[in-house]
Amino acid sequence: MNAIVDQLGRPIRDLRISVTDRCNFRCTYCMPKEVFGDDFVFLAKNELLSFEELERLARIFAQLGVKKLRLTGGEPLMRRNLPELIQKLHDIEGIEDIGLTTNAVLLGQYAQPLYDAGLRRLNISLDALDPELFGQINGRGISPELVLKNIQKAQDIDFTIKVNMVVQKGINESEILPMATYFKERGITLRYIEFMDVGNDNGWSFKKVVTKKEIYDMLAAEFDMEPAEEDYYGEVAKRYRYVGTDAQVGFITSVSESFCSTCTRSRLSSEGKLYTCLFASEGFDLRELIRSDKTDEELYEVIANVWRGRKDRYSDERTEQTVKNRKKINMNYIGG
Ligand code: GTP
Ligand code: 5AD
Ligand code: SF4
Ligand code: SF4
Repeated sequence: MNAIVDQLGRPIRDLRISVTDRCNFRCTYCMPKEVFGDDFVFLAKNELLSFEELERLARIFAQLGVKKLRLTGGEPLMRRNLPELIQKLHDIEGIEDIGLTTNAVLLGQYAQPLYDAGLRRLNISLDALDPELFGQINGRGISPELVLKNIQKAQDIDFTIKVNMVVQKGINESEILPMATYFKERGITLRYIEFMDVGNDNGWSFKKVVTKKEIYDMLAAEFDMEPAEEDYYGEVAKRYRYVGTDAQVGFITSVSESFCSTCTRSRLSSEGKLYTCLFASEGFDLRELIRSDKTDEELYEVIANVWRGRKDRYSDERTEQTVKNRKKINMNYIGG
């Protein structure tokens, strides 16, 4: 079978599935509460793809070359019975890896059922260890204690865990070193994410970005680090090992060093649209197609053609103008 590649020669390898647009946090940089208030209308149940529909699509994506699935949201654990979906996806031929990106608030309850369903990898978002600051960033006053307790629980169950920290200038830079120390001691990979202009409501500007170089220099003053090998082709993070330990730290540099040339990621939004870039304006409606009488072969062809036509390289092209003028899909529909 010939690999399906896009206009820039990139194969399709990953599918990120947003299973819900809801979240129990209101992070200022993602779902600010001024926009996502009490009267915000989220998707109705029949607007979300069912587990059967997701399984069918994931099977077709696997035939197209996808080896890796990631479940996102909103907050994916807000979707009822998620372990059931994991089980279905786990059984698909060709899928080698499944990950879940979560804020960990509901993990105390779900960690074991998720593990039993076959999930082994968790990426957990945590932006600060300071309770007041974290409560402010997550917009719900949730304490880091709860997240840390659930991380510990997941570690005890034997999940492979990475922690994601979005760094914003003037907001949580003071947390860079305390977070490094905390997770280094526990052998958990912490990844610093450069603040990105996702969605239309997060008040982004170049001035609010703390770059990889700035963070690296802060760490290098405290720790000896050496580059670690890439885990998979086109890995999003650049990782380093703390010399003499197994602990690692990483950087996701969408702003200062874009990684579009090796981007193999497709995204299925919570309302069933296919996006070929995190910063896309338009998606391709797969929900309508899957609810018509199309065969798997027909769906395969349609998706293959969307991928073949793909030219996205937003982070390579980002300027003050694109940040202002491009209307983008919101993060809670596309899941990062
Ligand atoms: P691993 O499989 O563990 O490497 O997961 P991941 O890093 O791909 O997924 P995760 O959901 O943890 O994403 C971490 C950060 O990387 C989030 O802020 C994502 O929005 C960002 N990210 C993931 N893929 C892309 C991408 O293709 N482009 C850009 N610009 N950012 C991405
Ligand atoms: N910039 C960078 N990362 C972001 N995330 C959400 N919004 C942004 C943003 N504006 C991160 C979350 C989570 C992952 C899915 O994306 O913190 O870890
Ligand atoms: Fe929810 Fe994650 Fe967005 Fe925060 S970043 S509001 S936890 S989806
Ligand atoms: Fe891929 Fe778009 Fe991110 Fe570039 S900006 S790495 S094309 S998702």
